Amino acid sequence: MSRQITSLLAIAAVAVALTPTPALAQAPKKPEVDCEQVKCIALTFDDGPGKHAGKLLDTLKKYDAKATFFLEGQYVNSRPAYVKRMVQEGHELGNHSYKHPDFTKVDPWVIKSEIQRTQDAVKKAAGVEPKLLRPPYGLADLQVSDIAAEFGMPIILWTAGSNDWNTKNVEAIKKKTLEVAERDGIILMHDWVEQTVQAMPSIVKSLQAKGYTLVTVSDIIKRQELQPGDVFPLPEGWDK
Ligand code: NI
Repeated sequence: MSRQITSLLAIAAVAVALTPTPALAQAPKKPEVDCEQVKCIALTFDDGPGKHAGKLLDTLKKYDAKATFFLEGQYVNSRPAYVKRMVQEGHELGNHSYKHPDFTKVDPWVIKSEIQRTQDAVKKAAGVEPKLLRPPYGLADLQVSDIAAEFGMPIILWTAGSNDWNTKNVEAIKKKTLEVAERDGIILMHDWVEQTVQAMPSIVKSLQAKGYTLVTVSDIIKRQELQPGDVFPLPEGWDK
């Protein structure tokens, strides 16, 4: 090999080494949202990723809205591509158990296994681990709180529900969601309810017209300084 070719190869090798590795699975850097400055609201979707998650993600992307998905591990394993897309598109992921048992009615080892299997499934699908826990049915007691603390996660409930799982009606879901919307609210919805996904373009447009910025739960709770095991918002009768 001539000296000239050798040095050309050396230059090519340096050029390859300098080319940055594409960070495919990484979320784009999220612009900071300050909910003291802007009117924030967090839409949250439980039990997914549901069958209609793709359409929902399209809507959120179109209107530049962020959401939080409290995922069930069993569906993370069956629909991993949606989970990866959620992270890539700047949404937040939370843990909602593996198979949705009532955490206040099962043994501690079951709770731990439900949480861990879901953490593992999300990590495998999207390369990240949820930092928030929403127990099935929003039911928690001191034991659940202790276990959440072991996992380093606060327990996130909601300020209001859309009642979508019950009405399954596009107009009713839209009406209820807009009725309960409030600044720094955390709204419970479900991406397995087809009518919720159908109502979303209209809901997002209406909220934005009312001045809301749709953000993740972490944006909303930033000022709360929650500790692992803390419950937010604190339900009535919860003796801390
Ligand atoms: Ni649920």
